[in-house]
Order: sequence, then structure tokens, then C-alpha cells
Amino acid sequence: MKTVYVGMSADLVHPGHLNILNEASKHGEVIVGLLTDEAIASYKRVPLMEFDQRRQVIENLKPVSRVVPQSTLDYVPNLEMLRPDFVVHGDDWRTGVQQQTRQRVIDKLAEWGGKLIEVPYTKDISSTALHAAIKEIGTTPSIRLKSLKRMLAVKPVLRFIDIHNALSALIIENTSIETPNGRREFDGMWGSSLTDSTSKGKPDIEAVDISARITTINETLEVTTKPIIFDADTGGQTEHFVYTVKTLERLGVSAAIIEDKTGLKKNSLFGTDVPQTQESIENFCNKIRAGKKAQATNDFMIIARIESLILDKGMEDAVERASAYLEAGADGIMIHSRRKTPDEIFEFCRRYRDIPNRKTLVAVPSSYNTVTEDELAAEGVNIVIYANQLLRSAYPAMLDTAKSILTHGRSAECDARMLPIKDILDLIPGTK
Ligand code: SPV
Ligand code: MG
Repeated sequence: MKTVYVGMSADLVHPGHLNILNEASKHGEVIVGLLTDEAIASYKRVPLMEFDQRRQVIENLKPVSRVVPQSTLDYVPNLEMLRPDFVVHGDDWRTGVQQQTRQRVIDKLAEWGGKLIEVPYTKDISSTALHAAIKEIGTTPSIRLKSLKRMLAVKPVLRFIDIHNALSALIIENTSIETPNGRREFDGMWGSSLTDSTSKGKPDIEAVDISARITTINETLEVTTKPIIFDADTGGQTEHFVYTVKTLERLGVSAAIIEDKTGLKKNSLFGTDVPQTQESIENFCNKIRAGKKAQATNDFMIIARIESLILDKGMEDAVERASAYLEAGADGIMIHSRRKTPDEIFEFCRRYRDIPNRKTLVAVPSSYNTVTEDELAAEGVNIVIYANQLLRSAYPAMLDTAKSILTHGRSAECDARMLPIKDILDLIPGTK
């Protein structure tokens, strides 16, 4: 019996998949190379269903003899192992990100006289369209809550950026670019205290109370599906923080980051230019423990933010605190720096790697902004947060427009720099 290899993600199985599998079974015994969650996430998105769920579905389809994991987008390792007579695939991969993958399949099969058979793409149905439809329906708090942990499990590094209202959140939700390695987009949203306070015209000193902060989050939740990491500042009084945890978790926020400062909090990027007091290790560990005890699921994360480098307390202090906070139950560490270069962050990363129970590591490259996500990932950073860039880019644009109108006594001069009237009417579906 000849063997036929079919690689697929099979997240939402539709007639297009069945067509390919039926075609494949005409040529021999069908082995499905089911892409792992990591392989799918490497070029499009984290699948809706986990690998084992997808395997259960595919294994039970009539034309399929067996399922093997395919752990890269590249077919070659599995082809070398199985040496199939045929590979069957939809003809849609002749263009786009999979072009090279296809060529490598053809070249590899040629080594033992194998052949690629391409099945015409089933029109009017595609996983991408089904995914878009699902996204339009929205999500639920528990699915959104879990999505951060799922992403962390399958992606080498996650990319978050600030929200300060629902419109900024929609930019994060919908903006993507195509690259030679697939689609690139933001993984989620950072509920920044700086940009949320600033857009409410208030200082970033915990003056915007939790109810007002949650209002911004609620507006965001209403129109998006991606995970949110909430900047909970100091977390406030431990007795109050437990309620913040319960509220965030109930809403479907994935994580809260609390910073180890006490008293009147000022923004970290001031460093030692303003008086700021670091919390004792003991008190902060108690706050972490109380927060962890308050949550109802295993999915919500409390990430401890270390301000030792911000406050010139030194690397040893930062590392000691990281160990203690993890020991107290923190699900991760955020290390912050206000240096222009990433050197001290890299040094912390190296020291962090030696901590036996290390967990998720978060970095916020606001001042050391020449570092790339890949460089941070190579040092062990799991989440990169762009903490304020969306608001910082919106404000100068608005200021320019205001000045232009004041200067000219009309808006014609700044019109070309603005979103056309037609486009703003089309921006939010349902406006018409
Ligand atoms: C924020 O975005 O509010 C932060 C990051 O906490 S920073 O402004 O750098 O302190
Ligand atoms: Mg903040």
C-alpha cells in the first residue's frame, strides 16, 4: 500500500479539509501530519483547539489512517522520517508564506521518487474566513482569561502595547502586517496606568481609582478579544488588592502586574528624581500571597514588578526580590529599567535564568528602545510591553491639528494629515 502524507492545522474542520483527505485516500494510506500549537502560532495564530482536541477530531475521520505531530511549518523532518509516496495539499500554497515550504516538499520527495499532488482550493470556505466570523461574535471572559497562558505555552515571545480607550484597543485588535514568515500582530493589550491616567487628564499617581480604571477595561473588553495585562500600580492596600484581583479575573483580564513600591506612587521613569519608596520584601510577598489566594481559577496571573533598578538599589537586590516573589507565588516577574541601553536588563535576564523556579519574564523597553523583541527573547524575556507608544503618538498629532486650526482659522491646512471623513464614518462597523 502506498502512503500519502497530508499536513494540516485542522482547527476548524470544514468541507475543504474533507475534500483534501478524500482525494488523498484515493492514492493510498493517509497519514496526517497535524501541526502542533507551536507550529501554527509561528506563522498565524494560536489555534482555538489544543493539539489533543484537534487530534481527536482528525483521527476519527474515515479517510485518515493515523495522525503524527508536525512540529514545524516545514514538512521536511516528517517527510524524512516517513518517506511517503505522495504529499497532498490544497493548491492555495503556491503563493504567500508557504511558497518556500512547498518547494522544499517537492525537492525532498524527489529524493525517493515521491510526488506532490495539489487539490484545487475549495472556494467560498476557508479557515481564515471562519476565524474572522468567530472573532466578530466576540469571546467570553474565561476564554480570554486563559488565552494569555495558552500563548505563553506556544510562542517564544509575546508583544503587548498600551490601551487608554476602546479605540486604541481596536487598533491593537485589528492591526497586522504580512511578513515573509507570516502574519505579525500584537498578542494583547497593556492596561497602562500612565496612559489611562493621562487620557483622563490626571497624574499617574494612583489618583484614578480602580473603578475608573476598570471602566476603561470594560470599554475595551466590549469590542475586542485579545488578552489584557492590567497595570495595577502598587496594588494598593493588600486588603483592597484582593478585590481588584477578583474583579479583574471575573471580567476576563488575564494578569495583573503589581510593583513593589509603597506610599505615594510616582511613575518609574522618574527614577530617583522624585521621592519613591520601595516596599519591604516581606510586605510585598504578603500582598502577592493574598492576591493568589483571592483568585478563583488557575488561569489568572499575578506578576510582580521589581523597581530595584529604577530606584538604584542594585542588581543583587533585584535578583533577591525575584526569588522571594516567585517563592511567594508570583506567576512571573517584570523587571524595569530607565537606562538608555539594555545592558542592565540583559544582566538581570542572565541572573534570572539561574533561579530554579523562574517563571514568565516581562520587560518594558521604553527608555532602552533600540533593543529588538528578538534580542530580548534571546535573553529569556517572554513578554515585551510597549507601555505608552500609542498615546505618545496620538497626542502630538492632535496638538498639531489644534495649532493648525488656531493659526489658519480653518481646518483645510491640516485636512490631509487627518483620517478622511468617509473613513471615520466607516471605521466602526454599524455606524451607517
Ligand atoms: C505604565 O505604562 O503605566 C507603566 C510603565 O507602569 S512605566 O510608565 O514605565 O512605569
Ligand atoms: Mg504604570
